[in-house]
Amino acid sequence: MEVLILPTAEDLAREGAARIADLVRSRPDSVLGVATGSSPQGIYQRLAQQVRDGSLSFAEASAFALDEYVGLPREHPQSYAEVIRRTVTEPLQLNPQRVHVPDGRASDLAAAARAYESSIEDAGGIDLQLLGIGGNGHIGFNEPVSSMASRTRVKTLTPRTRQDNARFFADESQVPVHCLTMGLGTILQARRLLLVAQGRGKASAVAAAVEGPLTAMVPASALQLHPHATVLLDEDAASKLQLRDYYRFAQEHAGEVG
Ligand code: F6R
Repeated sequence: MEVLILPTAEDLAREGAARIADLVRSRPDSVLGVATGSSPQGIYQRLAQQVRDGSLSFAEASAFALDEYVGLPREHPQSYAEVIRRTVTEPLQLNPQRVHVPDGRASDLAAAARAYESSIEDAGGIDLQLLGIGGNGHIGFNEPVSSMASRTRVKTLTPRTRQDNARFFADESQVPVHCLTMGLGTILQARRLLLVAQGRGKASAVAAAVEGPLTAMVPASALQLHPHATVLLDEDAASKLQLRDYYRFAQEHAGEVG
């Protein structure tokens, strides 16, 4: 696992955006896995700036969102279909036909989940999956004790996740109870993973995911199984890592060999 610790959230956004931009420049029809929430917003804003100034184009790229609430109308401002449209599709000028979000309004959610897996496969798989991490260690909405082999399916949100996400709604009771989420097995199939975390509130989850045991209790520990996983952290999010000095040392000597 590559662990990069950078001084500020702005530095994280710059580094994350540079990695995505490099990928899309080298392969314009890249398939991106995209996250909602606060963590990737700086990255999206920087990428949007490059799209506006004409130095980057997502015109041929595709995107798959990690997850969606069950039961929110598609046009609800907090449905992930709407959040992705607002924060990713429009600013990055992606072709909306090539942006996919699980269908949380489907009458047959299991069939919608299977269809989502098929559309990822039909697109050739995900080249780079961007991830945030929940305070309880979730990635996507794979809450603790999600199977490491899980595929897109319905999950029940934990009270903690509903509390954390209440900031986006009028109050906690408005946060849906269920979601559709890519599974940990789905996420692990992406060719590269890029997890971004800022702030002290993420420090325990990050330490458990990066340095703790591989355990379903910390779904983000699944990154330990991936051959190309990068964790981008600001100083606060890195503050509970035991091997901070080693990660910095490795960072200083990156690119010297091979
Ligand atoms: C979002 C998602 C979640 C968030 C996580 C962190 O699509 O799947 O795993 O990445 O809850 O959320 P923020 O970034 O808002 O702290």
